[in-house]
Amino acid sequence: MASIGMQSTMTRIERMSRPMGGVHLDDADVAALPPGPHWPVFFQSVGLLRFRHWFQPAMQRKYGDVFTVRVLPKGRHLVVFNRPEHIKEIFAGDPEVFHAGKGNSILGPVMGEHSLLLTDSKEHKRARKMLMPAFSGQALRGYQAVVTGLAQAEVATWPEAKAFRSLERMNAVTLEVILQVVFGVTDEARLAKLRPLVNATVQVSPAIFLGLNFPGLRRLKPWRNAIDNQIKLDDVIYDVIAQRRAADLEGRSDVLSRMLLEVDDETGAGLTDAELRDQLVTLLLAGHETTATGLSWALYEIGKDPALEQRAREAASAGDDDFLEAVLKEALRLHPVIPMAVRHLMAPATIGGIDLPRGANVAASILLAHASEDQHPDHLTFRPERFLEGEVHPNTWIPFGGGVRRCIGAGFSLMEGVAVLREVLSAYDVRIPEGSTDEPKVRNITSVPRNGARIVVTRR
Ligand code: HEM
Repeated sequence: MASIGMQSTMTRIERMSRPMGGVHLDDADVAALPPGPHWPVFFQSVGLLRFRHWFQPAMQRKYGDVFTVRVLPKGRHLVVFNRPEHIKEIFAGDPEVFHAGKGNSILGPVMGEHSLLLTDSKEHKRARKMLMPAFSGQALRGYQAVVTGLAQAEVATWPEAKAFRSLERMNAVTLEVILQVVFGVTDEARLAKLRPLVNATVQVSPAIFLGLNFPGLRRLKPWRNAIDNQIKLDDVIYDVIAQRRAADLEGRSDVLSRMLLEVDDETGAGLTDAELRDQLVTLLLAGHETTATGLSWALYEIGKDPALEQRAREAASAGDDDFLEAVLKEALRLHPVIPMAVRHLMAPATIGGIDLPRGANVAASILLAHASEDQHPDHLTFRPERFLEGEVHPNTWIPFGGGVRRCIGAGFSLMEGVAVLREVLSAYDVRIPEGSTDEPKVRNITSVPRNGARIVVTRR
């Protein structure tokens, strides 16, 4: 008999792989857009995605603070902004006009139609409202003890006096946090079943994501394997949901249980199994590598600078979470994990006095905003104090995007990051290996440390 996962996974993949619609801009619209390169669309796309750390500053130097690039699919026009006053207008834009879900539609077959990342308008507003309580300050405090326990367990396994890639270790701990704190699974047998399935899902490359949209490719091995994995993962997730529905939720502190408690104000109904599944997979894909990457950059910067390391260790032992949070924030500023936040215009809009037509896409460049010497003096220097001294103004530090689409997990990831840093610094002295360096490298959507942010630890 076909499993629930099998039926619903296949239906979801078929339904979500319809070709994307798009608005064609006419010649007059295109001519009025801010200037940009005239290279073939393919090269512009590769520049923007793959060589982003060089491409965006180069375009800014050549065309100024607002420029237009053309990207795949279909040579869509993307107008890139970075000044705080422009970013403010993008993030404050009417959500009916500034859609975010469309740009993520490649993720549809995996995340599903209900995903917070993929929906817009009414659907997005409802989903966001149903998920918000699970990410409130009070909810985050409830997750803290488990996160700390998982960080302690991870840190206890580290080898001493031997260089290792902190990125992989951070990936391991953030994955465990998703499984135990977001999914709320603590039973070891079930965890053992989930880990490989979840690992295979988070490692799906953009080529596989893209290929899932084409029925012909879905029969070939790499895509077939990805689908088989999805079916198995969905089976376990639906099982977890069914068990949780039957359980007493009183006193449980995990994201799934909190989501189960929410009801829609208008209909009085809670989230369906399919909605819960889509949101869980979304939280997994959006929250795991991003947080791990930010944390590994923070460890790298701490290991590089003995004075900073000492200050951070003192903060960890004194319970000064503000300083540890500032370290994370500065890591996310100097090494943005996501390069930009994009919106698709459903109606004409004006940004920075520039009239833009319906169908254009606009981006708030996180990379450029964070590298602005005007907004972040001495911008190449790692200086967490800038976050404690009121120097960082609104719309100049935007690692989590902004407005109604601002990352719902921002507070979660800072809470998690502080807990992990605290445990690392309480247990070890942290250094980077002699002569070691690192730089950002693009992996899928995120920018990760090319050498894995290698560190050496010595027990204190
Ligand atoms: C350092 C860690 C993280 C970074 C840098 C990051 C970054 C981002 C960015 C740039 C966006 C798009 C915002 C926009 O379009 O304005 C976003 C959205 C989102 N993130 Fe995160 N994120 C992180 C951690 C997390 C975590 C831990 C979770 C969940 C547990 C999460 C879940 C989401 C979701 C569901 C959205 C979609 C929100 C919406 O469209 O309403 N993220 N994130």
